[in-house]
Amino acid sequence: MNFTRNDFPDGFLFGAATAAYQIEGHKFGGAGPTHWDTFAATPGNVVRAEDGALACDHYHRFGEDLDLLRDAGMDAYRFSTSWARVMPDGRTINPEGLDFYDRLVDAILERGLKPFQTLYHWELPSALADEGGWTNRDTCHAFADFTDVITDRIGDRVHAIATINEPWCVAFLSHFLGHHAPGLRDIRATARAMHHINLAHGMAMTRLRGKGMQNCGVVLNFDHTEPQDDSAGAARATATWDAIMNRWFVEAVTKGTYPAPALDGFAPHMPDGWQADMAEISQKIDFLGVNYYTRHKVTEDASAPWPHLASQEGPGAKTQMGWEIYPDGLRSFLTRLAADYVGDLPLYVTENGMAWDDRVENGAVADPERAQFISDHVTATRAAIDAGANVKGFFYWSLLDNYEWAFGYEKRFGMVHVDFETLKRIPKASYHAFKSAIAR
Ligand code: FCB
Repeated sequence: MNFTRNDFPDGFLFGAATAAYQIEGHKFGGAGPTHWDTFAATPGNVVRAEDGALACDHYHRFGEDLDLLRDAGMDAYRFSTSWARVMPDGRTINPEGLDFYDRLVDAILERGLKPFQTLYHWELPSALADEGGWTNRDTCHAFADFTDVITDRIGDRVHAIATINEPWCVAFLSHFLGHHAPGLRDIRATARAMHHINLAHGMAMTRLRGKGMQNCGVVLNFDHTEPQDDSAGAARATATWDAIMNRWFVEAVTKGTYPAPALDGFAPHMPDGWQADMAEISQKIDFLGVNYYTRHKVTEDASAPWPHLASQEGPGAKTQMGWEIYPDGLRSFLTRLAADYVGDLPLYVTENGMAWDDRVENGAVADPERAQFISDHVTATRAAIDAGANVKGFFYWSLLDNYEWAFGYEKRFGMVHVDFETLKRIPKASYHAFKSAIAR
């Protein structure tokens, strides 16, 4: 890789990220059903209708997985705590679930890693989905209660807490595009979810502050968006897409407002009185997590209903997901966020990575494409620091091959290969290359 730890300021953290439903094995430990289980069980939603029932069996193998992080010389581990494991019906405590995260956090600390917790990485308890999930304001209150319960148990030991992972995916991808659970395609449901997920963040922040918690923030995803051509229509469409995808959440959280090109479309469908929530949503955070993967080109489709647009991948080389590899988009977002939204507030790259059709040959996985991808994105992060962005860490997505949502187990993002028959882990060449690059 074309970087070393010495290229970064003292205290810069290198780590890897995972999420509960994608690795743990949801059938263990008394976890309750989630909207992902039923989404996956519905024909046509998920490749081979796969779900997270077994996943990587991290529930039983977390020691081995955390050893991999330690042995790579990583500084930090980003993981999530499953709401449905801790509160199977979204409201009632499952002591086994709390015990699991208690053991997990201790095991992270024992290996000298900083625990970066995410409270919501998408496994909404089915009982709450039955009541409308994120279209229902009550879900925000239930989430705040979950925040209390899990924080009372492990909050004394985590280094940082993010409330929500990728609110755009929770709201727009899942309620407008229908690609993720609950698989709706409804603008009214979307507008409600777009607001309620921010409110859930705000209410959780209030509870965390009430307990004196520090290092609290949120993880947003950003998509580098450019017009397909230099027509006025493409410029309009790009502004709309940028507002829905990149500005809605960060503007709400840092300024307490919603960007006009997005609000114009959602306004008729927003929950009554949403304006009164903006103060709680925009209370001070301690860091912003940035997830970045790719670039899109946007065109106007005036004949379609709002948002009147179509988007496609950019022209460059693609990953196994079909996502264009565009490292400069990461530099661009980190500097834009610092300049326009967060100033000096610490930024972390909380996810960046690529899927590839990795093969095991003679007990090893050669993935030079991934090593190059990581090297280029870490270098782009360094360029953002040079341009004044206060970036404090980089987490690769993901430690392990895992359950890639609607793509099932087909897409491999890990630095560590997982055989989903035997559950054997094999560190890929990129793992070893990352380890050498970040060695002290
Ligand atoms: C992000 C998600 C993460 C993973 C990666 C590839 O949108 O946060 O769970 O699926 O994409």
